[in-house]
Amino acid sequence: MARRRQIYEGKAKILYEGPEPGTLIQYFKDDATAFNAQKKGTINGKGVLNNRISEHIFTLLGNIGVPTHFIRRLNMREQLIRQVEIVPIEVIVRNVAAGSLSKRLGIEEGTQLPRTILEYCYKDDALGDPMISDEHIAAFGWASQEEMHDIADLAIRVNDFLSGLFAGIGIRLVDFKLEFGRIWDNDYGRIILADEISPDGCRLWDMQTNEKLDKDRFRRDLGGEVEAYQEVARRLGLLPEGGETAVLDMAEHREKRGK
Ligand code: TMP
Repeated sequence: MARRRQIYEGKAKILYEGPEPGTLIQYFKDDATAFNAQKKGTINGKGVLNNRISEHIFTLLGNIGVPTHFIRRLNMREQLIRQVEIVPIEVIVRNVAAGSLSKRLGIEEGTQLPRTILEYCYKDDALGDPMISDEHIAAFGWASQEEMHDIADLAIRVNDFLSGLFAGIGIRLVDFKLEFGRIWDNDYGRIILADEISPDGCRLWDMQTNEKLDKDRFRRDLGGEVEAYQEVARRLGLLPEGGETAVLDMAEHREKRGK
């Protein structure tokens, strides 16, 4: 079988050329990294779960009018997406203090923030994705003021929707990371949501127990990573009750046989 052309390999995903111009195939790996890839590991089955969870969330966001790059899921590990020009900014949305915000500002993890906070990081692994402000974005031309307005507006809409979605299944959406891209219609660049939304880039805490159901299990050596991701998928209604692992194993097996 002719192998597709690889366009880009990131820490958790690979992008391949898509079947039509303007499309790409996004492949979800099981690789996990933390602390700017200083810590590396594998979470077996993570790619399958993230592909499914991200498909679900992007579909729901599309249904409420949030423009996204998602077209459709192709198989257990791949989805068809629109090719975008990635805006080199990671947008962090925070509802509850945790992680680097707690460390930086000395606010105890779990403290409800007085309002939702948006932070921006410059997407550059070699620099460790440093935090930046609107001033840097404008000065260096990473995005226009109008684009930043659209990005902030979309980030808040995504947060409002996802906070409610997760609250409905007993999960607190503590914080998460978004990436956006530009698509060109004639000479006009439009901002759409890109990348993925999965437990890799969100903090998701069980509302009753505060148990972490996200990549902090890996970052902090808590164990039970795949079980946590499965629990998120299960509560979202994406896995049948019981026998989740069996379902994943069978699917992987089918995929390996090329069906
Ligand atoms: P932080 O507390 O480490 O800044 O992370 C905030 C949120 O953003 C958390 O949900 C994890 C997510 N995130 C990523 O997805 N990728 C990253 O590179 C970083 C630093 C954070």
